[in-house]
Amino acid sequence: MADDDLVFPRGFHWGAATAAYQVEGGWDADGKGPSNWDTVAHRRGFADGATGDVACDHYHRLAEDLDLMAGLGLTSYRFSVSWPRVQPQGRGGWNPRGLEFYERLVDGLLERGIRPALTLYHWDHPQPLEDAGGWMNRDMADWYADYVTGIVDRLGDRVTRWITINEPLSVMYAAMTGSSRLTGPLGRDGLAMARNLLLAHGFAVQRLRSSGEVGIALNLSGIMAASSDPVDVRAAVRAEAYEDRLFLDPLFCKQFPRVDGEPVLDCDPADLDVIATPIDFLGVNWYAPARIAASETGLFGYARVDLPGAPKKNMLGWPIAPEYFGDLLAWLRRCYPGLPPVYITENGLPLDGGTQDHERIAYLADCLRQIKSAIDMGMDIRGYHVWSLMDNLEWEHGYRPRFGLVHVDFATLQRTPKESYHWYKALIARQGSWRG
Ligand code: FCB
Repeated sequence: MADDDLVFPRGFHWGAATAAYQVEGGWDADGKGPSNWDTVAHRRGFADGATGDVACDHYHRLAEDLDLMAGLGLTSYRFSVSWPRVQPQGRGGWNPRGLEFYERLVDGLLERGIRPALTLYHWDHPQPLEDAGGWMNRDMADWYADYVTGIVDRLGDRVTRWITINEPLSVMYAAMTGSSRLTGPLGRDGLAMARNLLLAHGFAVQRLRSSGEVGIALNLSGIMAASSDPVDVRAAVRAEAYEDRLFLDPLFCKQFPRVDGEPVLDCDPADLDVIATPIDFLGVNWYAPARIAASETGLFGYARVDLPGAPKKNMLGWPIAPEYFGDLLAWLRRCYPGLPPVYITENGLPLDGGTQDHERIAYLADCLRQIKSAIDMGMDIRGYHVWSLMDNLEWEHGYRPRFGLVHVDFATLQRTPKESYHWYKALIARQGSWRG
């Protein structure tokens, strides 16, 4: 059988991932408050006028979706809690019906032998907090920590794997460049968001300490210089500092990376202590490598350029180059000797077609091959999550880029497993994995 080489250590966790705003819908159901994303969606919509109002309607189709996960044989499911669903104002006042939804989700997973990996923040927060400045406001870290405490009080007896924040880099860059259309460009001031997001993470780790394993999910690329020209080499060093190292260095080395001898942002040593509170795992979201050249128009004097050999790009414009995944993993291991165990928290390929997604299967298999060789070389990687369980709202790109193992017809909301679903199911079935 093809992919026979993809045999992973016993106990490796086989997962799929989603995020609340991308799948749930029910945007104002049962006492949910509006989020920052709802507000922009209703003001002008995302690509093709898309909104997250209905999305996959996962909120109302929970049982069916849980059965799809069980059918795959997943042992881990990564999902996020919508903060405005459970705490509509973002401060005080909890919404019991929102909390009950996540209780049903967690219980449904456990009944099916699937371990929940709960992301506490995957980009949607209550609009009243956005009105108060969102992540530019340092108080956001305290509000977030209180929200985390409420969730742990309610679910901490059943959830044992927590992800504090998904891709703080994306949150920050979307705001700095205005690319998410949620906020106008914030320029260099936007870097303060990195500190606030990291502080929020650190507070959450402290509050989650006795409730299981805690980590953060970072989007990392693996950065290479476009040429040996010192100008490009310096650009790549800057890109590494402003992207891959921006969160890794404070988390694991208790300092911000330096560019031209200066830390990229000033941070109080007391804040750094909070930020560097030890975590149990690092979540890695990986889609594509970054080849960097100097550029005067780039935000920090650099830009991404095509890879050598110009491999095909996916529909979001990212190179399809799974063979580079191992370089990122090796770089992580080399640069961060105190690195905790790693979970791959996202990895996937967008396509625009239907259920015959052979290109996705090839991409996922190649990525898994890279992960397996990193494990064979001694790296502690404990699990893998396909992005995504099902087709969903790809943020500002709308519904056209489809990442799912399950096809969703957005007119009827009918779910149909794709070829990749059957492939992943067979792969999981061949492994010895966690059950409990
Ligand atoms: C990541 C996001 C996730 C999804 C994938 C394609 O950056 O975390 O929600 O949109 O990209």
